[in-house]
Amino acid sequence: DASVAEARKDHPMWSSRFAFILAASGSAVGLGNIWKFPYITGENGGGAFVLVYLLCIALIGLPIMIAEVTIGRRGGRSPINSLRMLTHRDGLSSRWTWIGWMGITASFLILSFYSVIGGWALAYVGQSASGAFSGGNADSIGALFGGLLADPWTLLVWHSVFMALVIFIVARGIRSGMEKAINILMPLLFLLLLVMVGYAMNSGEFSQGFAFLFQPDFSKLTTAGILTALGHAFFTLSLGMGVMMAYGSYLPKNVSIVKTAVAVSVVDTAVALLAGLAIFPLVFANGLEPGSGPGLIFQTLPMAFGQMTGGVLFGSLFFGLLVIAAVTSAISLLEPVVEWLEEQKGISRLSGTLMGGISIWLLGLLTILSFNEWSNVYPLSFISAFESKTFFDLLDYVTANLMMPLGGLFIAIFVGWFMNKQAVENQLDLSNDVAFSLFMFVLRFITPAAVLVVFINNLL
Ligand code: PFF
Ligand code: NA
Repeated sequence: DASVAEARKDHPMWSSRFAFILAASGSAVGLGNIWKFPYITGENGGGAFVLVYLLCIALIGLPIMIAEVTIGRRGGRSPINSLRMLTHRDGLSSRWTWIGWMGITASFLILSFYSVIGGWALAYVGQSASGAFSGGNADSIGALFGGLLADPWTLLVWHSVFMALVIFIVARGIRSGMEKAINILMPLLFLLLLVMVGYAMNSGEFSQGFAFLFQPDFSKLTTAGILTALGHAFFTLSLGMGVMMAYGSYLPKNVSIVKTAVAVSVVDTAVALLAGLAIFPLVFANGLEPGSGPGLIFQTLPMAFGQMTGGVLFGSLFFGLLVIAAVTSAISLLEPVVEWLEEQKGISRLSGTLMGGISIWLLGLLTILSFNEWSNVYPLSFISAFESKTFFDLLDYVTANLMMPLGGLFIAIFVGWFMNKQAVENQLDLSNDVAFSLFMFVLRFITPAAVLVVFINNLL
C-alpha cells in the first residue's frame, strides 16, 4: 500500500474521530430526519413501518456505511478514484467505478428537490419570526402552508436563496468553518427537539402519538411501504452513493470505523425518532391526518409555536436550525458533483460549483411546479409503478427507492465478495475474529439478500 501512503501526504485528515462523526452526522442529519421521516411514517401507518425502518438501519444501513467508509479509507481519494484504484490493485473489473458515477447522478437529482424543501424551511424562519403562527389553529396554519405551495414564485425565491447559500459555501471551501459551527448547532437542534417533545408531552396526545410510532400494526404494512422504509434507511444515512466513501477517505487510520459508523447511525436515528415524538402527538391532538404528506411538519409544528410561550423565538430557532441541518447535508450532495467536474473535466472549483449548482437549481423548477401548476402532471404514468407520481415524487422515488439501494447493494457485494479480505480486516481492525466473521457474514449474505428481497417483492 505504498502508493496509498504516497498519495495521502497531500490528503488532509479529520483532526479526530469526533470531527469525522460531526461531518458525517452533518451529512446524515437533515430534512430526511425531520421532514421526510415523519411524513412517510404517517403515510405508511406508523409502528410497523418504523420497525421495518429500524431493521433496515441495523441490518442494511449500518453494514453498508461500514463498507463505504472502508472503501474510502483504503482508497484515500474521491469515490470514483478510490474505486478505480482499489479495483486496479485487487485485479478487479474497473466496472465497479460505475457505483461512483451513479452516486454523482443521484446527488444531482436529490439536491434538486432537497433545495426546494430547504426553501420551505427558510420561508418558515421568516414566518415564525414575524409571529405569523400566533394563535394559529389547524385551519389557519394549513392555509398558510397551502398558500406557500400554491405560489411558484415564492418557492422559487426560497429555493434560489437555499441553493445560493450552498453554492457559496462549496465554492469558498469554507467547510472547516462550517464544521466548527455544526459542533454547536447540532447539539442545539437536538436540545430543541427535546423541548418540542416536552411540549408534545404536555399539550399533545402523547400516548396516542407514541403508540402510533411504536405499536406495530402489521395489517398496515404494504410491500411498497417496505421499499419506502428501505429507501429511507439509505436516504437518511446518506448511503449508497459515495458520500460516506468520500468522508471515509479523510478518516485517520487509528480510528475505529465500526464504532464511528455506529455513532453516526445512532445519532441520525435518535433525531428522526425525536422528530416523530414531537410531531405525532400534535397531529392527533389537532385532528390532523397522519398521512397528509410532505407538508406534515409544516402543518403541525407551527401550531405548537403559535401556542407555546416563547413560540416566536423557539419557532425561528427551530426552522433556522433545520435550515442549517439541511445545508450541511446539501453541501455533501453538491461536493461530489463539483469534485467530478474538477477531476474529470478539468474545470476550476468556482466554475464547477457554479455549473453544477446552477444546473441543479434549474432542475429544481420541476419540483417547484410539482406542488402547483403541474400537481396533476404525471410524466411516467404509463409505467404502473409510477402512476400518479409528479416530477417531485419521481425524483424522490427513483433516487431513494431505486438508485441508493442499488448502489448500496453493489457496495456490499464489492466489499463482501470482491475486495481483498485482508485489507478489509485491516481497515476494520476488530479486536476479535468472531466479530469480524459475523460482520462479513452479514455483509455477504444478509444485507444483499434483504435488499434483493425487497426489490423483487416490489417487482412482482
Ligand atoms: N441524509 C440526508 C438527510 O437525511 O436529510 C439527505 C442526504 C444527504 C442524502 C446526502 C444523501 C446524501 F448523499
Ligand atoms: Na438523515
